Formats: sequence, C-alpha cells, structure tokens
Amino acid sequence: MDVGIDKIGFYVPKDYIDIVELAKARDIDPDKFTIGIGQDKQAVPQPYQDAVTLAASSADSILSADDKKDIGLLIVGTESSVDESKSTAAFLVDLLDLPEDIRSFEIKQACFGATAGLQSAYDFVSLNPGKKALVIASDIARYGIKTPGEVTQGAGSVAMLISESPRVLKLEHKSVYMTRNVGDFWRPTFSKVAFARGKFSNEVYVDFFTTLWDRYQAKYDVTADDFSTMLFHIPYTKMGTKALRTLEGKVSDEKYAELMANYQDSVKFSREVGNLYTGSLYLGLLSYLVNAAKANENLLLFSYGSGAVGEIYSGEIQPGFEKVIDKTSLETMLEQRQKISISDYEKMYEVEYHDGTIVDPAGVDAKFYLSEIKENERIYKKNN
Ligand code: HMG
Repeated sequence: MDVGIDKIGFYVPKDYIDIVELAKARDIDPDKFTIGIGQDKQAVPQPYQDAVTLAASSADSILSADDKKDIGLLIVGTESSVDESKSTAAFLVDLLDLPEDIRSFEIKQACFGATAGLQSAYDFVSLNPGKKALVIASDIARYGIKTPGEVTQGAGSVAMLISESPRVLKLEHKSVYMTRNVGDFWRPTFSKVAFARGKFSNEVYVDFFTTLWDRYQAKYDVTADDFSTMLFHIPYTKMGTKALRTLEGKVSDEKYAELMANYQDSVKFSREVGNLYTGSLYLGLLSYLVNAAKANENLLLFSYGSGAVGEIYSGEIQPGFEKVIDKTSLETMLEQRQKISISDYEKMYEVEYHDGTIVDPAGVDAKFYLSEIKENERIYKKNN
C-alpha cells in the first residue's frame, strides 16, 4: 500500500519584522543577516497566539468534513507546548471539530518532533487501511532579544494529512536515524527562551547529515544521482547550504549545481518566516512544491532536532500534486502580512499572560486565539 502526505498546509502569524531593520537596531551589518544567515523577514506571533492556535490554523486550512471523519490519529510535534500535562493535540479536537474516536498526543524532540509524528502516522495508516492521520508541527522559536540566536527566531505551523494513495508525496519507507546525547540547544522548563551553543550546534547538524547520508547510501545502495532534490531542516537558510557543501567534489558538478539550485527554491518561504523549529523541514517541502517541484521527483529529506536526533528518509512527488496545493492562498498569506517596527516587536515580546487574563476579541486578527486564562486553564476560541 502506498502511504504518504495527501495534503499539506501552512500558517504564519500576520506580523513580521524586517531583518535589515533588526540588524540596524542591533548595530550589525545587514549583510551578515541577509547573506551570512540568509533571512529576510521574521514572523512575530501575537500574545494571544501559541502552539495550540498556530496548529489549529494550519490544520484548518487543509481539512474537509470527509477528512475529519477518517482521521484516527492526531499528533502534534512541538517544543513550545503550553501545558506540561495536557497535550496540544487534545485542545485541537474542539477547535477543529474532530470526532472523539481519535488517538491524540503530542511529541517533543526539538525540531525532530514532526518527523517522529510523520513516521508514526505512516505506521498507523499502513496498519489501518482507510484511516488517515493528521500530523501538525507547531512552534514559536525564541532565543531572546539581542542574543546571537535572535535573528533565527520565527513562528508558525505546518499540517500534513497522511493517507493511503497520497496525492502529494509518497513516503518510500526507507530511512536511517540516529540519536546522540548532545548539548547543542536546550530550553529548560522554567525558561521561555532557548539556549544554544550556536557554532557547536551547526557542527553537530552537519555531522549528523554526513553520517546519516553515508549510512543511507550504504544501506540502500544509492548515490546523490538517485535524487533531484535534498530538503533540510532549516533553522536559518544558510544552515542547509552548509550541509550541502559537504557534497562538493563528491558528486558531479552538474548534480551539485542542481541540488544547490533546488535548495534555493526550498528555502524561499523560510527566508520570509524564520525558524519554525519542527515545522521547518516541512515548510521547506511546501516551498519546493510551490516553487519548483515536478511530478515523480525523488526527494531526500534530512530531519534534525537538537539534543540530538536525526533522520534521513525519502519520498516521491506524486503526479497531480499541484492540484492539491493551494499555491495562491499560501502566497497571499505571506504577502498580506504587516511589518511591525523593531520597538513594537520588543514590546510584544515582553507581554506575558497570567491567570485572570481576558483577551478582547475586538483586538484579535486571527481565526483561532487564546481567549482567557481562568483558574490557570487556557481557554481558546474560534472566530467564524
Ligand atoms: P553568530 O555568532 O552571530 O554568527 O551566530 P557568525 O559569526 O557565525 O556569522 C554567521 C555567518 O555570517 C558566517 O557565515 C559569517 O561569515 C557571516 P558562515 O561562516 O557560517 O558561512 N557573516 C557575514 N556575511 C556577509 N556579510 C557580513 C558578515 N558578517 C558575518 N558582513 C548562529 C550565528 C547561527 C550560530 C546564531 O544565530 C545561533 O546561535 N542561532 C541559533 C542556533 C541555530 O540555529 N543552530 C543551527 C543548528 S541546530 C538546529 O538546527 C536545531 C534548532 O532548530 C533547534 C531544535 O532542534 O529545536 C536550532
């Protein structure tokens, strides 16, 4: 049975900051941010948005009433969870009007969470013919004002519906994975911001890619010539370039040029949004599908989550995939955002909601939002 991604959707908050303005505010040469890091804009969520509302928004953009009846599994990958006990997934059952007979939970392993969800969904759909699984990656990437990581923040979510006879990407069921206990990036439960050993994290990322790529080639007797495109976890768009550069001189010049060119198409959306943490690889997939993909292309996907877990797997783009992707709405969503000033971003960053907060719906510019915190319980609402 063929199993894979049948639908894929994305949501980004309506506000963003301009990376050149951020560089100037931090007294840094803008070229460092636009060329050295490779970002143009950074999504900024409203205080009434969190992993739950972002997840609801991307899922809502792809689900039909018929899909909802068939979903038997809901997994949310996130490292921005709002509760240490209740999963982000449980909140979504109401917000998305999903039926009760669903197994739902949250997965955390830094930016690897959604890939863990996707592979579990593959198993679930393979064992339960006719059933579908909804996998959502939802995160707010935060490092703190004036830290080296600030330029690599971002927010948003990607939702994927996994089914048999998928219309977007057939998963090949070929993968290699690895785990090492590494201190490259972490966020303790007391902290709203992540801590990173930045340059070390880059090295670990590249080491995971080269190790897994060697193992993948040996295990399945393939080379780079078997793939037209390699997609990467994209914490910032220069990062995948660093991994791809390890192939220079090891593959033909033509293949290297093709992989580099296709990588640029896969990072177009990320340049506009920033790090989605666990959604970043899948935003790269969506960007590639919208901007360059062709039917029957073989893709190699590298997933990396600090801490650290990595996986390389592959998939084949399905004929007619473009009919399932709402290219116009995605591009409109990105274009119709509003730029906010660096000082407004800094003020918004400081806002923290506590018990007793009631959000005025008149000030909400999103379909799903945090409406209230009552007895320390977060209550969400949907605008129709
Ligand atoms: P930094 O120390 O500010 O920057 O931190 P840098 O000095 O390394 O410079 C960055 C690049 O800009 C360099 O290029 C410079 O040469 C270049 P590179 O050598 O890397 O190719 N540069 C310039 N280019 C043009 N014009 C100029 C100029 N000046 C310098 N004038 C760092 C950068 C990414 C480390 C920092 O932003 C950071 O700590 N980010 C957070 C950590 C991170 O994103 N790590 C990525 C790997 S780990 C991962 O992917 C997992 C993660 O997503 C978390 C999870 O799994 O949940 C993060």
